Amino acid sequence: MQIVTEQGEISKIQTDAICLGIFQGVRRPGGAAGAVDGALDGALSEILTDGDFSCKKGEVFWLRTHGKIGAKRVLLVGLGPAEKFSSDVVREVSAATVRAAKSLPELTTIAHGAGIGGLDSLTAAQATVEGALLGLYRFEKFKKPEEPIKLERLRIVEQSAEKLEQLERGAQHGRVIAESVALARDLANEPGQSLPPRELAQRAQQLAQELGLRCEVFDEKALEKLGMGGILSVGKGSDEPPRLIVLEYHPHSSPLPAWEREAAQPVVLIGKGITFDSGGISIKPREGLEAMKYDMSGAAAVIGAVRAVALLRLPMAVVGLIAAAENLPSGKALKPGDVIKISNDKTVEVTNTDAEGRLVLADALVYAQRYNPQAVIDLATLTGACTIALGKEAAGLFSNDETLLPKIQKAAQQSGERVWPLPLYEEYKEIIKSEIADIKNSANKGPQAGAAVGAIFLKEFVSYPWAHLDIAGVAYDVESRLYHAKGATGYGVRLLTQLLQHWQSEQ
Ligand code: BES
Ligand code: MN
Ligand code: ZN
Repeated sequence: MQIVTEQGEISKIQTDAICLGIFQGVRRPGGAAGAVDGALDGALSEILTDGDFSCKKGEVFWLRTHGKIGAKRVLLVGLGPAEKFSSDVVREVSAATVRAAKSLPELTTIAHGAGIGGLDSLTAAQATVEGALLGLYRFEKFKKPEEPIKLERLRIVEQSAEKLEQLERGAQHGRVIAESVALARDLANEPGQSLPPRELAQRAQQLAQELGLRCEVFDEKALEKLGMGGILSVGKGSDEPPRLIVLEYHPHSSPLPAWEREAAQPVVLIGKGITFDSGGISIKPREGLEAMKYDMSGAAAVIGAVRAVALLRLPMAVVGLIAAAENLPSGKALKPGDVIKISNDKTVEVTNTDAEGRLVLADALVYAQRYNPQAVIDLATLTGACTIALGKEAAGLFSNDETLLPKIQKAAQQSGERVWPLPLYEEYKEIIKSEIADIKNSANKGPQAGAAVGAIFLKEFVSYPWAHLDIAGVAYDVESRLYHAKGATGYGVRLLTQLLQHWQSEQ
């Protein structure tokens, strides 16, 4: 879809359709909607007063204009209550408008006004573009495509010339971010069959080539040399060998010398990349097992975020690490009771082969240390327990660093990808004490803070400012946001990009 930003008045432009957002409770619209209302002889006020349209968030209502204004149609869209307004509402409402407009036969262009609810131009344009592109996302790799989308152009119209530059920047950021989210969704939606660790590595290499990034892939031999017993033992049961994937972005020229110094110290992003999680010998029940192809959603988010960071040319170094393996049972598989050794020589008694994410992440967390990182953030569909705690409305956030934690919370607020802090109490370590190894990988003593126990296990392998995001609940099938489709959400790309975009200024 083509996206243009332009100077003009939404009530006057010639186009197929203009979208007007209306807050709940408004009877006589003001601003641009007020001007349209006047030109249409009070048609909007009438609809709003009579209650034909209730302005619930994302609700839409079409009107014809009979040549009274430049646009052929007006699409009223509900913004919900004014006190709950945010940039994420813009994202949702923008998705609702493109979905309403996409299949009308003669409609190829819609226009939005840029002045929404007091948001700055950059934020408004970015959210509008993200919502539109994400709202139209479909995963059709293995399917006869639905009818083609007729909508070709999105215009974002602003009266004041001074705001145009920010508007254009916002639209460009929005496109880069939305396309990176779409990449993450595509990867997570793809079945384990066609995206085993080797293929995931190839996709990362291909992306690196396109963007001029450094990419290194460690195969079984290399993993052996590095002593990465976590990744290797989880991958043992499968015919598809495991991989550690390294993606490095370096800013080519930094405008400030200070950044050049910091550029040497990257932020490292780590993604859990279990391309299919059967549970291994501790096999999972059959119901819903097909969803375990999404167990590489953390990896997908990291790949998407690195893409966005590179295309936005952020002035800092960012490294993506993906621990990729397929967790299957077989005669060669890891067994409950086995003791394995992570690359920092810590031994782990594997009491449950279905707690595999923490085993592969442990090796990646140890590897991150060699970058002397400013901070490390891992994303993982780690525990069903996190979904029990928070449902699908927030990722669980754990951190050992009191400056990193609020930074992530702020980025979450701004990106609409929610996080909720959970504790890393020392006492949880008792739960993973082992009789025969340094630690064990699961409690096996009834339900006890499962998400926190996973996090406390990871913490054993960390020696820098660190945050862990448990995205088991938010990574797929989240129906509460209008810009989501069924399947993968691409959670994390927006959050991480927002965080890294403001990394310097928020120090
Ligand atoms: N990939 C799963 C977690 C998961 C479950 C993600 C449901 C998304 C939806 C993870 O590898 C796992 O199996 N975790 C176990 C941990 C337990 C054995 C300590 C779990 O949550 O049951
Ligand atoms: Mn598992
Ligand atoms: Zn898993």
